[in-house]
Amino acid sequence: MRVVVVGSGAREHAIVASLVKDHEVVATPGNPGIEEICEVTDKDPESIDADLFVIGPEVPLVAGLADRLRANKKLVFGPGQDGAALEGSKAFMKQVLHDAKVPTASFSVFSEFKAAKSHLMSYPGPYVIKTDGLAAGKGVKVTSDLDEAIEDVRLKLSGASFGESGKTVVIEEAMIGPEVSMLVVTDGASAVALPVATDFKRVYDDDLGENTGGMGAHSPVPWADQSVVDEVMQRAIYPTLSELARRGIDYRGVLYAGLMMTEVGPKLVEYNVRFGDPEAQVVLPRITSDLGQLMAEVASGRIESPVTIDKRAALTVVLASRGYPASPQYGMEIKGIDAANGQVGVTVFHGGTKKSGRGLVSSGGRVLSVTALGDSLNEARDAAYRAVSMIEFEGMHYRRDIGLRAISEGAKSSGVVS
Ligand code: AMP
Ligand code: GLY
Repeated sequence: MRVVVVGSGAREHAIVASLVKDHEVVATPGNPGIEEICEVTDKDPESIDADLFVIGPEVPLVAGLADRLRANKKLVFGPGQDGAALEGSKAFMKQVLHDAKVPTASFSVFSEFKAAKSHLMSYPGPYVIKTDGLAAGKGVKVTSDLDEAIEDVRLKLSGASFGESGKTVVIEEAMIGPEVSMLVVTDGASAVALPVATDFKRVYDDDLGENTGGMGAHSPVPWADQSVVDEVMQRAIYPTLSELARRGIDYRGVLYAGLMMTEVGPKLVEYNVRFGDPEAQVVLPRITSDLGQLMAEVASGRIESPVTIDKRAALTVVLASRGYPASPQYGMEIKGIDAANGQVGVTVFHGGTKKSGRGLVSSGGRVLSVTALGDSLNEARDAAYRAVSMIEFEGMHYRRDIGLRAISEGAKSSGVVS
């Protein structure tokens, strides 16, 4: 098949790396890492001819790119605008969860400061405040400090911190427990869970600092075995797909369930309508069957082929720019990628890089995602950090604790289900 991949991040690099094993791929706009493994173009995806279109990021999905392509009889992996609203509006997502009776945090929606403030003052915290609209993973404040919570709501509702996205907020009950990202591919009716991953959202070690798009990930996850996968499919994914269908939404693509493993079982934190970044960088390398075939089946509304999984573990470390997430600084020369890529089992996915007269330079907050496969999480972790030590750019920072908790819980990759 000839497949078009839309996007330019490390997630799209991982998607392309899997697809090129069996298919001809064109990426738009792609990035310097993607350019090394397939054709890239700046063309509008609607002007390209292909057998299958894969839309990576949420922004074009929420803007209706899948609908426009489908209107032109193209086969598309990715939901239409109606399904993408699960990520485009947290208030809509919470309503769907409520109607589908999916276990999740209780919530209220506000667009008026006085009402939001008195709600915050009515309970002891911790407080969880989210922008209704898209905020690149940074729109969530979790705090036990009432004054900080009130100030966060004030900045969001006034538009000062997140513009239009923040002018409606969702205030939620706080959930406690380790997190899991379950990526499920669905043709709207049936669904297949991909290997479970976990993401490291806070910028610093020990989960300190601001929320980011994700600073690292690994798969498998010892605190999410097959029974958890089965429970999430039965209590969250299938009820959600039925509720979407009831609303006339035909969802074809990946549904990413962000979950918290609470004392009373897994609860849904959020849905995203695309592969996670950096989760894709550890989930996709573990899929040994033909990803393009699976995506084409999803797009045509009938999943038939089995998904086969590599028993090895995968772990990725994100290398970020100085100042990320608040105010990242770009344009730094990057060295050592080839040496890192030369290590057994290692792939360096490009997130925010561009070519310049000085060679490759950083151009985004999350610059590279250094991924390694290994016979155990421990081995994958060692290989990933060895590769990280070969790479440098000014101001580079990364978490040093990716995978430590899983390893100390005695994870063994072989034998641990997905
Ligand atoms: P979201 O953008 O909704 O995925 O939230 C980003 C991160 O904020 C999540 O991955 C959690 O770490 C944290 N978070 C979100 N909702 C809650 C909640 N209700 N309770 C505790 N932490 C939360
Ligand atoms: N890693 C979190 C996300 O992709 O939203």
